[in-house]
Amino acid sequence: MKLIPLSVLLVTVFALAGCDRIDPDSPLGKRKAIYQQMLDTKEDLGGMLRGRLPFDSQSFASGAIELDELSRQPWQHYPKVKEEQSDAREDVWHKQERFNQLARELEAHTAALVAVTAQKPVTAESVAPTFQRVEDACEACHKEFRAY
Ligand code: HEC
Repeated sequence: MKLIPLSVLLVTVFALAGCDRIDPDSPLGKRKAIYQQMLDTKEDLGGMLRGRLPFDSQSFASGAIELDELSRQPWQHYPKVKEEQSDAREDVWHKQERFNQLARELEAHTAALVAVTAQKPVTAESVAPTFQRVEDACEACHKEFRAY
């Protein structure tokens, strides 16, 4: 029987395991982490409006501020050329004006959400319509620019 050297086996195993690992310091790794935080924050806010979490005006207001800050961050991490592992469509690079427009729209809606939480009293009813526009802004861009 011919033995396969251990080093060859290890290299193969690492190559297989590493094939879709994304470097957290790469632009893709950075924007994925920001998108994930945006999702987590948005889910907490949505959870408060849908009864999954108790509505708390203070935490809703601070969550809105966090989401507004996060929503300004992914865009700087798009390199000049699309990475192979990215789930973004080529359109992100070919229709940059439209992509930027949808990014600005999200930012406008998260800013509006911050503004609405600054007006007392903050209730689920008072923030729900503005929050819905934030969710719609996420979805609008995903429909046009995300591959799945
Ligand atoms: C202007 C466009 C745009 C907007 C607005 C947008 N996204 Fe995305 N999002 C993308 C694209 C493109 C991807 C695909 C990943 C990439 O960039 O390579 C993505 C990916 C994601 C992912 C998957 C990340 C991963 O690990 O693969 C999550 C989660 C996400 N977005 C959440 C959100 C949330 C939440 C909002 C709204 C608060 C939002 N996005 C708004 C364009 C957008």
